[in-house]
Amino acid sequence: MADVEVYGKMLSTLPDDDDHPYRSGAWRPQNVEYDADDLRVEGELPDDLYGVYLRNTENPLHPAIVRYHPFDGDGMIHKVSFRDGKVSYRNRFVRTDGLLAEQVKDAASTDVIVHAGVAVASFYQCGDLYRLDPLTLDDLGKCSWGGSFPGDLGVSAHTKVDDHTGELLFFNYSTTAPYLHYGVVDAGHHLVHYVPVDLPGPRLPHDMAFTEQDLSEACTEFGTINSGFGGRPYRYTYAATNEPGWFLFNGLVKHDTLTGREESYQFEPGVFCSEVGVAPRAGGTGEDDAYLVTLTVDENRDLSECVVFRASDVGRGPIARAPLPERIASGTHSCWAPGDCLRGWA
Ligand SMILES: [Fe+2]
Repeated sequence: MADVEVYGKMLSTLPDDDDHPYRSGAWRPQNVEYDADDLRVEGELPDDLYGVYLRNTENPLHPAIVRYHPFDGDGMIHKVSFRDGKVSYRNRFVRTDGLLAEQVKDAASTDVIVHAGVAVASFYQCGDLYRLDPLTLDDLGKCSWGGSFPGDLGVSAHTKVDDHTGELLFFNYSTTAPYLHYGVVDAGHHLVHYVPVDLPGPRLPHDMAFTEQDLSEACTEFGTINSGFGGRPYRYTYAATNEPGWFLFNGLVKHDTLTGREESYQFEPGVFCSEVGVAPRAGGTGEDDAYLVTLTVDENRDLSECVVFRASDVGRGPIARAPLPERIASGTHSCWAPGDCLRGWA
């Protein structure tokens, strides 16, 4: 039986009968923050699943001044941790300046990664990077990188972590030249590289990918790999499939870049997932020797679950499910932080 406590409740001024398509249905926002231990688990929870799944969500508390965009909601991080066969859950709003001033601007609601043991939430347009403890979700303030954070331009969502070097890779952009910068922050949170990238004019890039040779940009949605193979030759990609006409995701697809084979899983109608975290099996070494973790929004049962797939058998569907205390809003990006990179967990 789950042990659920309410940590806090934020004031929401949204109407009870809100019918905005991205603030109702699968996008219905929450305003309660929970701590829940010992979630009830259905299925077989592997005991070598060890770490934390973090997912960012656009979760608005107030009506838009003019027009609401689905990415404008306040950032809420959901955390599901797996340790010793037990699952716990916690959700927290990101304490942004915009949230605290009760206005939505840089909402830090798009992406979340873990760099050097700290969770970092970011916004789809350039802005501040907000730091949270990846276990408690306590607010740790903004990234300053010893005063070298590029506060004039901010940093875009979709920073990347190179697991082999411990570096954070990022980009930002501007309407005036230089239109794009690329930067690197080391594991000690020092900005060690920050260079302009030549572009003929302003652009609004959204994501980046990295290799050992070159930096390139790719227009993908929720495509991800086992992060242990970041920047190195990899074989498998995992992505969410799109619900036609909506920013909702109705299934998962795994692509084998060597054979071209695809394997997919479709949730039942009315059930949507988000980006998967690829969780390498503790003690495993193979690229596909991993679990896929995601959160669902189930409109049929008014429920959200954390679901776990075997990466090597996506088509089988979830091998374990753990219901969350409340149905959460559909959201965006997520990450997986292995237990051995979390301070206090080793
Ligand atoms: Fe994105």
